[in-house]
Formats: sequence, C-alpha cells, structure tokens
Amino acid sequence: MDSATMPTRLLIVDDELAQVQALCETLIPEGYSATGFTSVAQALDALRAGKFDIVLTDLTMPEMDGIAFLRAVNRIDPDVVGIVMTGHGTIATAVEAMKAGALDYILKPFNLSVILRMLARTQAMQRLRRENTALLQRLGERTVELEAANRELRAANRELEAFSYSVSHDLRAPLRTIAGLVQVLLEDFGARMPSGAQAHVTTISGQALRMAQLIEDLLRLSHLGRQALSKEPVDVASLVHEVVSELRPLEGDRKIEIRVGELPQAAADPSLLRQVFVNLVSNALKFTRQRPSAVIRIEGSMQTGGSTYSVADNGAGFDMGHADQLFRIFQRLHRADEFEGTGVGLSIAQRIVERHGGKIWAQAQEDRGATFSFSLPEQGTFV
Ligand SMILES: Nc1ncnc2c1ncn2[C@@H]1O[C@H](COP(=O)(O)OP(=O)(O)OP(=O)(O)O)[C@@H](O)[C@H]1O
Ligand SMILES: [Mg+2]
Repeated sequence: MDSATMPTRLLIVDDELAQVQALCETLIPEGYSATGFTSVAQALDALRAGKFDIVLTDLTMPEMDGIAFLRAVNRIDPDVVGIVMTGHGTIATAVEAMKAGALDYILKPFNLSVILRMLARTQAMQRLRRENTALLQRLGERTVELEAANRELRAANRELEAFSYSVSHDLRAPLRTIAGLVQVLLEDFGARMPSGAQAHVTTISGQALRMAQLIEDLLRLSHLGRQALSKEPVDVASLVHEVVSELRPLEGDRKIEIRVGELPQAAADPSLLRQVFVNLVSNALKFTRQRPSAVIRIEGSMQTGGSTYSVADNGAGFDMGHADQLFRIFQRLHRADEFEGTGVGLSIAQRIVERHGGKIWAQAQEDRGATFSFSLPEQGTFV
C-alpha cells in the first residue's frame, strides 16, 4: 500500500483510559488506524518502534505534560504532527502547545464531527508539508547537480580554449615554412614552370595566407576566453568617436554619413568593448561598400538594469532565415569575392558581450541594411 491509500496512523495519549478507548473506538470505524496509550513512556516507545502520522495528546498528565511529550515526539520523528487536547483551554496553554510544535488544539469535551474535521485539516496540512519538504529536497539536489554541471562545463570550456590555443599556436610554424617555401618556389623557379603549375603554386600561396589568417583569428578568439576582464565605467560616446575616426579613413573618399546619437556610459572592460564596436562598425562600413551613399547610425539607450547600443547600416543586409549562423565562428552569409573577411568578428563580439553578462542580436533585410544591437547589464556581471 502506498502512503496515499494507507490509513492515517494515529497515536492517542491520555491518562484517562476511558478517553483513550472512546477515541480509538470512534476513530477506527472512520478509517483511521488508532493506537492508544495511558502511559507517556509506552507511547514514546511505540513511536520509536513504528511509524505514526498524527499524535493526539492530553495536555495535563501526571507522568509528563503534553507539551514536554510533544517535544520528545518531535525529537523522535519531526514529521509527526501533534494535536493537543485540553480540558481547560486557555489561550496561554494553547500558544505554548503550538510553540512546542502542536499544529492545533481541541477543547475537551468534543464530539465526533469536531475531531473528524480537525483530523481532516491536519492530514491536508501534513500532506502539504511533506510535499513541500520533498520539493525543497529535490530543489536542493537539482541545485547541487546544476552547480556540478556548471563547474564541469567551465572546466571543459577552459580545456577546449587551451586546446584550440595550443593547436593554433603549433600550426603556425609549419604553415610559415610552407608559405615561405612556396614563395621561394615562385620567385626562383616560377619563370621556368609550365603556366599550369605556376597557377597551382600561386593558389597554394593564397590558401596558405588564408589559413594563416584563420589561425590568427582562432588564436584571438581563444585568447579572449582566457583574458581577465577589468570592469570600469566607460565613456562609450568618446570610445565610439575614436573607433569611427580610426576606421573612416580606411574607406577612402566614398560617400559615408556616420551619425552618432546618444550613447550612455557602460560598466565594461574598455578595450574589449572597443573591439565590439570595431567589429560592428567595420562590418557596417564593409557591407555598405556597394551603396552610392552609405548611412551608418550608432546610438544607445538606458533601460532598467542596463543599456543597449546599436549599429545600423543601409548596406547589403541578409536573409533573417540565416540569422542564427551569424555569430558562429567562420560563418559568413556573403561570398568572399563580394565582401572579404574570415567570419570571426561577430563571434568575438558575441563572446565579449556574453562575458559581460549581456546579449547581442541582429535585425536585417536582404539588400535593405542591417542593425546589430547589444545590451550590457548595469552591474556588468562577468562570466
Ligand atoms: N552589417 C552587416 N550587414 C550585412 N551582413 C552582415 C553585417 N555584419 C555581418 N554580416 C554577415 O555576418 C557574417 C559574419 O560577420 P563577421 O563580422 O563575423 O565576419 P566577417 O565580417 O565576414 O569577417 P571578419 O569580421 O572576420 O573580418 C558576415 O560575413 C556577413 O555575412
Ligand atoms: Mg566582420
């Protein structure tokens, strides 16, 4: 029988035998399992030997008063609920009984319907208490599990970063040899090579350069995860002006309008936040390159709990159906012969924003421009 179908087990204690007998005789036919005692010591022995749900005890008994008895019950089994029966119910004794752990008290003499109502209420309360305890226990277990999983994830992440760092680092030297020798091959023997072979060697040289760039990008990304963050108040407006005046000249004299709006202060690592803006603004410049007149808007706003910044352009945009790929390393939505790049800028930006406890997202329409936004929490919780 499970606990839901098992009768509620009552332990009844009163120094008056007639009272114990009367209670047992009336409650057993009502579906309860009732065991009665006139001796407190025997009742406590029974409690040590078996399991009970509710204790009904008299308040004044020669051996031990009901309050002391309930304390002893609680020490043996804290799950048992106590009800005190008292002939001279004063508020003071009732309060004291409740303090000793009694859930309720009942004034003697009482009739059957009163005790049945009280027992039903007590059972409901006990069910809730048990469910609550089970839930709290489950919650505690889940928390411990989650904390352990979190620790494991962090360790795995650190390992992965260390791994990608050392692999990228070690790949650099042989690649440099390949690129160098291919260059020598072209310079010293290029003229004597059949033109087909020369074209292949030129492709090898180009691909080696591309691979070197990918390795550099991987190194940058893995370095980012290992680097400590140092948070401070950052004047985002002047940081953005610096970034713009650094990047704008690289675009020659094509027509570009860069509007910088309100930019609230942030709590961030200044050099990392700078990298986020460098990546977003250089993307905006790159993807508007085919526009006769480019317009780039950089602005921000304060919200409760933090601030949001955005970089919007009227460039090539992209299909939002592929938006989930944007922030993955080496993922690009445009062809390399259209727009150059290795596809690492946004993963770096995302990594930085998330390490600050923020989020980054994009909104775009193909051929109608794109807006990249990110939020930073006020406190800049670092992860
Ligand atoms: N402002 C933008 N407008 C349209 N597409 C964009 C914009 N910014 C990013 N994208 C798309 O997201 C892809 C990934 O961007 P990301 O900055 O990571 O790489 P990248 O600019 O191609 O190369 P890298 O930043 O490494 O030089 C881009 O290749 C492009 O397809
Ligand atoms: Mg980029």
